Amino acid sequence: KNKKITDAVFNVKDKSKKFPGAIIIGVRKGGTGALLEFLRTHPRVVANKEEMHFFSDDQNKYAKGMQWYLSRMPESEPNQLTMEKTPKYFISEEAPARIHRMNSSVRLVLILRNPVDRVISDFTQIAVKLKTVNRKQNFTKLVLTSTGDVNANYCPVYVSTYHIHLARWLELFPLTQIHIVDGDRLISEPLQELRAVEKFLGLSPFFSEDVVYFNVSRGFYCMRRQVQDQDAYRPFCLDQTKGRQHPSVERWLLDKLEQYFIKHNEILFRMIGRRFKWS
Ligand code: A3P
Repeated sequence: KNKKITDAVFNVKDKSKKFPGAIIIGVRKGGTGALLEFLRTHPRVVANKEEMHFFSDDQNKYAKGMQWYLSRMPESEPNQLTMEKTPKYFISEEAPARIHRMNSSVRLVLILRNPVDRVISDFTQIAVKLKTVNRKQNFTKLVLTSTGDVNANYCPVYVSTYHIHLARWLELFPLTQIHIVDGDRLISEPLQELRAVEKFLGLSPFFSEDVVYFNVSRGFYCMRRQVQDQDAYRPFCLDQTKGRQHPSVERWLLDKLEQYFIKHNEILFRMIGRRFKWS
């Protein structure tokens, strides 16, 4: 018991707040919540649960200044990496330069997922918020223009046009500083993706089948987390807002969307020197 008390005092003395050394910048609906929760399980990572929205200037947060931002960070020990995630950063005009000003060598993590699946996932999230009743009909109306073309101005389509956003980051950050996580594989084989992230972040190897396991009733991978100061572990899965049921989209519309993204995906693949099997 005494040892525990000494440890606690030592930790409090030793703890301080740091600016993030790594940021999950997006993409919205890519699996950012899952990645953050997996990483929060790592003993060398600290991160707040909630999104900061600081550099994207929502609600004028950026005007509050860097000290305010620092004050919002969780406490960490010297050997711990502070992280934050805000998917809005990826599409924000201002975020790249502001983050670069904070720390030009900050490590950036970006999750990319099949752009068509991401459009449907994004639509589903918006529809849930708006309580849209006829989702199938509504999706078709939104994703196509009155002449039947894919609506490039529909926000979920615009967000899935990854190269437009990534180009802004690459003006300031070298590609080696941006780790791209395969969001489709993060769902089906998270361990592989987590090990790659671990390596990119310079963290000690931690993720294993003991930490990451498939939960059949949840239908997703979940994690085992150590209960603070105990040898016990408890399971943790993401809540039902992640992994929602998508509306069924007819084959012709899926084909049309896939076709639309081919040219955009090619631009992205050239930009990152890597290909994804998205069609
Ligand atoms: P869907 O709801 O379309 O299935 P974000 O956190 O960026 O909003 O991403 C949400 C997506 O994360 C979900 O999209 C889900 O498929 C995906 N995801 C990846 N790994 C997951 C996990 N282990 N548990 C729950 N959702 C996960």
